Amino acid sequence: MSEKKNTPLDVESIRGDFPILKTLSASGAPLIYLDNAASTQHPNVVIESISDCYRNYYANVHRGIHTLSEAATSAYEQSRHAVAAFLNAAADREIVFTAGTTAAINTVARSWGEANIKSGDTILLTIAEHHANIVPWQQLATRTGCRIEFLPVADDGTIADEVVLDALAKHRPKLFTFVAISNMLGTEFPVARWVRMAHDAESLVLVDAAQAVPHQPIDVRQWDADFVVFSGHKICGPSGIGVLYGRESLLEAMPPFLGGGGMIQRVTVSGFEPAGLPEKFEAGTPPITEAIGLAAAIRYVESIGLECIRAHEQELVGRAYDGLAAIDGVRIFGPLPKDRAGILSFVIDGVHAHDVSQWLDTRGIAVRAGHHCTMPLHKRFGVAATSRASFYLYNTVSEVDAFVAAIAETKAKFSSTGRRRTRQPIKPL
Ligand code: ALA
Repeated sequence: MSEKKNTPLDVESIRGDFPILKTLSASGAPLIYLDNAASTQHPNVVIESISDCYRNYYANVHRGIHTLSEAATSAYEQSRHAVAAFLNAAADREIVFTAGTTAAINTVARSWGEANIKSGDTILLTIAEHHANIVPWQQLATRTGCRIEFLPVADDGTIADEVVLDALAKHRPKLFTFVAISNMLGTEFPVARWVRMAHDAESLVLVDAAQAVPHQPIDVRQWDADFVVFSGHKICGPSGIGVLYGRESLLEAMPPFLGGGGMIQRVTVSGFEPAGLPEKFEAGTPPITEAIGLAAAIRYVESIGLECIRAHEQELVGRAYDGLAAIDGVRIFGPLPKDRAGILSFVIDGVHAHDVSQWLDTRGIAVRAGHHCTMPLHKRFGVAATSRASFYLYNTVSEVDAFVAAIAETKAKFSSTGRRRTRQPIKPL
């Protein structure tokens, strides 16, 4: 599986960094991991950074006046600095470590939302949002009486600027929140342009960048967004950690959401005084080794180059798109490859997505099947479930070809047997 043709990435060497890619799948076939939009795999440097902390300098942070705690605190804060530099944030204080993208959005909905949103206000979303960027706002609506409006997606998976402008003018939202790259459609939305449009309409902006930050260079100051969120586990880092970037003036003005140790300056029986940024939003023992692992992951992808990773994924998704488009009875969702990131959701006529995934698994190919936590978007396209292949820096052209061949095989197999939604075991290779 060595092909450097058309890509500046040395994929073979990159694959050597990921021990899991050497394992065989349960079926005995070589693992072809195409479920990267759900979670990515980990290079040795990330695994070792976590192990090194646990072995050599682990202690709780910001609490101990002893050598180990000071070492762990220093590594934890250096990790924050690495994230701030990676996003080009103006200050480390603008980086809050959370449990993930979901926790980051919930923090904004709880903290900023309850301080600023009242009955009759509007939060503007797109119908392409992941549940993590829908449900917290619905919960806020239940608490405050605010309204939620959804921008529609066109049949090709895009949203025209005019649609955004009209909705901003009509609804005058207090917050416009949208996904930078759809985890189902793969659509890349024009973040900086929409942020400008929203600011012109006096709306704040939260960008769900969970599928963007790992795959292309991101500069939050160039985007000019007010909040940006992403997760560690989609960028070769650990699960259990995510990032809330917030403009310093906004974070300063927001009340803390979770209360407890670490987020206070002083506590008395009659009340408390919150700590400054970013501790104000990091109650309790934070994700210490996870932050260290995330910083190692960021250094790793930076050493490869985000532009190169993006170009590589574009090549893979273009090839996968062309391959699937040539198979009769396969329906692909979302835009043409030139407007999409390395995500490809599809259905095979007459075959349930779960059966597709199960069949591919017998060939060692891991894809996701289901609604991908985007039920309203699936409903919009008239399907309950899709199969989804998603690519990252360690995937190869040969893997894409094996995936396309397996889909053709799936189509032929299930069409000839006329089986639908079978729960019968599928014969392994
Ligand atoms: N949001 C993740 C996905 O799309 C879990 O699979």
